[in-house]
Amino acid sequence: MRGSSASRCIVAAIPIQFDLPMNTVRAIYPGSFDPPTNGHLDLIARGSKIFDHLVVAVLNNAEKEQPLFTSPDRVEMLRETTREFGNVSVETFDGLLVEFARQQRAQAVLRGIRAISDYEYEFQMALMNRRLAPELETVFMMPAEKYSYVSSRLIKQVFHLGGSVEGLVPPIVLERMRRHSPPI
Ligand SMILES: Nc1ncnc2c1ncn2[C@@H]1O[C@H](COP(=O)(O)OP(=O)(O)OP(=O)(O)O)[C@@H](O)[C@H]1O
Ligand SMILES: [Mg+2]
Repeated sequence: MRGSSASRCIVAAIPIQFDLPMNTVRAIYPGSFDPPTNGHLDLIARGSKIFDHLVVAVLNNAEKEQPLFTSPDRVEMLRETTREFGNVSVETFDGLLVEFARQQRAQAVLRGIRAISDYEYEFQMALMNRRLAPELETVFMMPAEKYSYVSSRLIKQVFHLGGSVEGLVPPIVLERMRRHSPPI
């Protein structure tokens, strides 16, 4: 009796193992991306190498008072600049990141660390997200050194004051920034 039930289990287990994508890791890369920078793209390129699928998640952030670009514009720019990656998609989200990660069936969150100044906030967020969703891992990556000081906020400030941000944002982003709000 025991033998026959064991062999039934083994026979039943084989197709299940083949059906499940056992080692597939899906990650979310959340942010405002207002605007997307070469630092963001550097991180997306690194993430796309280690994850099976990376969802770039644009926060519909109400609290950031005057965004430069609407979230549909940010999504469009990110889709255009990540087209070369077959395993990257771009979505928007609202509310708790852990809920969005659950909806997306993601196992990991990708975040970038530029300098020590990022660390404290990122550490707090990672631990809070772990408390809310223990199954979700936060993975930190560092950009190429040449982008380690680049932030969307700084790009906007420099651009508005007439400084060059060429080489720090993708050409289509620069073109849209020029069209959208010419420097003073
Ligand atoms: N140059 C960069 N190198 C590595 N990671 C980055 C870089 N810029 C942003 N990130 C990371 O990307 C994620 C999303 O960041 P976010 O959209 O807030 O960009 P940001 O440049 O920090 O924008 P803001 O200045 O508006 O806060 C965060 O984990 C952030 O640390
Ligand atoms: Mg930021």
